[in-house]
Amino acid sequence: MCEPRHFEVRYAINPWMDTGTPVDLPLARDQWLTLVEAYRAHGHTVETIAPVAGLPDMVFAANAALVMDGKVFGSSFHAPERRPEAAAYAQWFKEAGYEVRPSRSVCEGEGDLVPAGRYVLAGTGFRTHSSAHREAQEFFGRPVIGLDLVDPRFYHLDTALFHLGGEPDGGGADAGNIAYYPAAFSPGSREVLRRLYPDAVIATEEDALAFGLNSVSDGLHVFVAPQARGLIDELARRGHVPVPVDLSEFRKAGGGIKCCTQEIR
Ligand code: ARG
Repeated sequence: MCEPRHFEVRYAINPWMDTGTPVDLPLARDQWLTLVEAYRAHGHTVETIAPVAGLPDMVFAANAALVMDGKVFGSSFHAPERRPEAAAYAQWFKEAGYEVRPSRSVCEGEGDLVPAGRYVLAGTGFRTHSSAHREAQEFFGRPVIGLDLVDPRFYHLDTALFHLGGEPDGGGADAGNIAYYPAAFSPGSREVLRRLYPDAVIATEEDALAFGLNSVSDGLHVFVAPQARGLIDELARRGHVPVPVDLSEFRKAGGGIKCCTQEIR
């Protein structure tokens, strides 16, 4: 995770961003610390990367890579403003003992590549190119399922869908289960999700707009935006333990809980 020391809305690269809206930095920092504490309180280890001045979106650590089986598929950012983040994150991974294989095509890490049991679900349409999906499949040797995003408010897959399971299962038969907002996807992709996950949690537009689908689940606990009330009720009904954490300041840049979290698998 990356502390929001230099976080601001200095450019606009998604519909949530308005350069006229100031960010309350002390509040953003408090919210971010609350998330760090929530992870630690539920048994998770949190490592941090030093924030770099001039890279306001570096707080969205999820976009830096996809890490699975200890292998790092590094990002190649769509927006020129974010491209220097790749080097900063690559350096962190190197120091932590990982080798980074950078994507040759535009790819925004866990923003668009979501491990989902035996599959990796992969979004395209606004950021990550479908050629990166193929690279990821070759690199990880896991089936990558391409999905078309069609609503610019949900420009990354992780704004419209999250996996409810914990770790990927090592390639077994189980696809786990997901929560998603169907209208963010093309009709064909919606049908693919319906076939793969007939028992999925279907989120409302209200839950999706509250960044409820930008959640992190360890299989039991779901770290979720408190404003996503319908989703929280449904998760609890299904036996999950919702852990509400408010990251409202980050919504000004189009981000939430998952965006701020790079999972090292
Ligand atoms: N302002 C950032 C961007 O548009 C937000 C990234 C949010 N991250 C995410 N994983 N969805 O790139």
